[in-house]
Amino acid sequence: MPEWWRDAIVYQVYPRSFADASGDGIGDLRGITGRLPYLRDLGVDAVWIGPVFASPQVDHGYDVADYRAIDPLFGTLDDLDALIEAAHALGIRVALDLVPNHTSNQHRWFRAAVASGPGSPERSRYHFRDGRGANGDEPPNNWRSVFGGSSWTRVREPDGTPGQWYYHLFAAEQPDLDWRNPEVLAEFASILRFWLDRGVDGFRIDVADALIKDAGFPDTPDGHPVIPKDASSPVHDVHRAFRRILDAYPGERTAVIETGADDATVALFLRPDEMPLAFNFRFVHARPDAADLRAAIDASLAANAAVGAPITWVTDNHDTTRSVTRYGTRAALTGAYVPGELRTASGAGADLEAGARRARAMALLLLALPGAACLYQGQELGLPNVDDLPDEVLQDPVWERSGHAVRGRDGCRVPMPWSGDAPPFGFSPSASTWLPQPATWGPLTAERQAGDPASMLSLYRAALRLRRQHRALGRGGLRWVSPGSADVLALDLLVPGETVRVIANFGARPIALPEGEVLLASLPLEDGRLPGESAAWVLPAR
Ligand code: GLC
Repeated sequence: MPEWWRDAIVYQVYPRSFADASGDGIGDLRGITGRLPYLRDLGVDAVWIGPVFASPQVDHGYDVADYRAIDPLFGTLDDLDALIEAAHALGIRVALDLVPNHTSNQHRWFRAAVASGPGSPERSRYHFRDGRGANGDEPPNNWRSVFGGSSWTRVREPDGTPGQWYYHLFAAEQPDLDWRNPEVLAEFASILRFWLDRGVDGFRIDVADALIKDAGFPDTPDGHPVIPKDASSPVHDVHRAFRRILDAYPGERTAVIETGADDATVALFLRPDEMPLAFNFRFVHARPDAADLRAAIDASLAANAAVGAPITWVTDNHDTTRSVTRYGTRAALTGAYVPGELRTASGAGADLEAGARRARAMALLLLALPGAACLYQGQELGLPNVDDLPDEVLQDPVWERSGHAVRGRDGCRVPMPWSGDAPPFGFSPSASTWLPQPATWGPLTAERQAGDPASMLSLYRAALRLRRQHRALGRGGLRWVSPGSADVLALDLLVPGETVRVIANFGARPIALPEGEVLLASLPLEDGRLPGESAAWVLPAR
């Protein structure tokens, strides 16, 4: 099929937390390979595997020390080759996570930069600046790190004296590369080819829109960094170069980028010669109510239509309070993560039953809308966020960098419950997993849910099966239908010869459904009516 990625279902694996084969309590590549049949049964087209390259793991792999090596924590290159081969045999494509904005401070380039001193070519691959103040002991500007604190860290020069400062958008162990230096692009072009040559189908590109900083590093009123993303920013040349590399390979290799920009700016990155896909964060942030969702959908469709690009719909990822919890609390409704800005919300006090009902309705919207969609591991199980992890197990660098003010993202990264009645729920041969699982997760295991037609997993499986059978789902043109109530979203998806109507009732009371065949409903109908906080797919009678 041409451009398979336009309506692909991508499944995000967070490697530490998916499946552990080695028994060290941390997920790994062989664990993922062992669970590929589960992904085939779920019905996904591609799997995006979070960062598995050699890394000191300060930000769980988003600090890469060697972009051409697998971290021993996750396995070996042979393990990755075996994973790719097994996935392809099941018809599943594989995307890796590429982190181009910053390296680890243990990367050979950064070590060379520190060792080589001010003004060296080695330093020019990063952003080194002299400090302010009489002795240069104040940071070069007032920009704040996304993870808290200053964006600048001072090094010791080779002679032992306090020296220059380097810029880091995230943690101090994640120095930002200077993408105005052509050596950086040359190196990443070679890294892309290295993995494409090994049969990787594409990449998820981390912080893709933030590669170019204002070289003047001006102070700003609120300490926000100045990161040009407009049409003339050189950041777009980087993505054009990446696209040319992808297109030079057979098999429609692709990429999905992470960008926290507004709809119109995201669309700039999706121009025909730039990236194929970008996560739609407007949808992540939408409240589960008819008005906000319709506004999000309309704005995103309009922006992307201008450049002919599909949307990648998403509600959950490894940086965001899980949606069952988010949709169950008022405070958390707007508490999702913005790339480049951390405001994960606590789910304390969430009504998880209401959250799960809304998440089920959202699943039917997510999987019907025209375009691609990305699911985060455990979303299909309806896992809630784990907001009561003990302080001493927290690992997100945000926790330390914020002086224990922000607990961070560990709550959405708790290992998957696969089977059994007690931790580790089949995740690992070892009882001590890198984050503890709630003892109450027995009813949420994949095994338990697979046998229950009313489970979240069964809903996702049924929805993905229907999406393969009905071309209008995920591919049709969208036409809004007058809903008859402010709490209801109604839309038709149209392809020649087929219309599927999606009705999502975010109100409290049941509503009538149109005449026709109900393909799927997120909750049992009540006397033929669609209950509050539920959604359905209907083939309208002609
Ligand atoms: C992206 C990742 C996030 C990581 C950050 C720094 O936003 O999704 O997990 O911490 O980049 O690499």
